[in-house]
Amino acid sequence: MENNVQVVIRVRPLNNTEKNLCGYNRCLRQESAQSITWTGHPELNFKFDHVACESVNQEVLFRVAGLPMVENCMAGYNSCVFSYGQTGSGKTHTMLGEISELGVNPGPECGMIPRIFELLIARIREEEESGRDEKLKYNCKCSFLEIYNEQITDLVDPSSTNLLLREDTNVGAYVENLTEREVTSVGDIMTLLTQSSVNRKVSATNMNSASSRSHTVFTCTIESRWEKDSICNSRFARLNLVDLAGSER
Ligand SMILES: Nc1ncnc2c1ncn2[C@@H]1O[C@H](COP(=O)(O)OP(=O)(O)OP(=O)(O)O)[C@@H](O)[C@H]1O
Ligand SMILES: [Mg+2]
Repeated sequence: MENNVQVVIRVRPLNNTEKNLCGYNRCLRQESAQSITWTGHPELNFKFDHVACESVNQEVLFRVAGLPMVENCMAGYNSCVFSYGQTGSGKTHTMLGEISELGVNPGPECGMIPRIFELLIARIREEEESGRDEKLKYNCKCSFLEIYNEQITDLVDPSSTNLLLREDTNVGAYVENLTEREVTSVGDIMTLLTQSSVNRKVSATNMNSASSRSHTVFTCTIESRWEKDSICNSRFARLNLVDLAGSER
């Protein structure tokens, strides 16, 4: 990667309402893998790190935007993915997609978060296997919070509301008393995701019947420990996956 920050634009297909209403049409034309034109008057061209047109499915998008995050975390770097855009533009579809607790292996329509964790858990198993001589062990903990009306609620334990944001010289910014669950398998993470997602505040907007009215942050801390030449080593990374509430303007 050339830059620390990468911007990907995803274009969603027209939905049924848009297809059935005369007057709604595509307003974008992809020029290249990095460039897109808004076909208004006058036409405007925009450049991004990647343009994902409407035929790009969840799997392909994950390979472009999610996979590098997993490798970053394995190397001990903090990483963050967040989705930004108007209501109904596909942020929750991109981040979470269709998830089910039963499907331990994420299905074809599942989004970035379950795919990132499927790969992360597989990579951890691989690394632990190859680092057996050094007693390499990983420990992952996940939390899931919602910010609604500037108040923080723990989605894992929704009775825990109005949590406080604090700053620590070692840890950085953190949310006090937020539940952290240790996870060891994709199944653990899918259960946490599905059970906590239902606690999120959702209501209808003109553009989206199931619009997320809050921002959510799914965080995973990945800690690894190993021994080399009788010295204990450790590495720490934090992965933040953010789904913002959409703008209605
Ligand atoms: N790339 C896509 N392919 C197919 N369907 C999509 C795509 N993107 C979004 N959708 C569908 O469009 C609808 C709205 O998407 P979504 O709920 O993700 O929007 P959002 O950006 O999260 O909106 P809000 O800000 O209101 O929460 C959903 O039914 C979703 O399944
Ligand atoms: Mg949403």
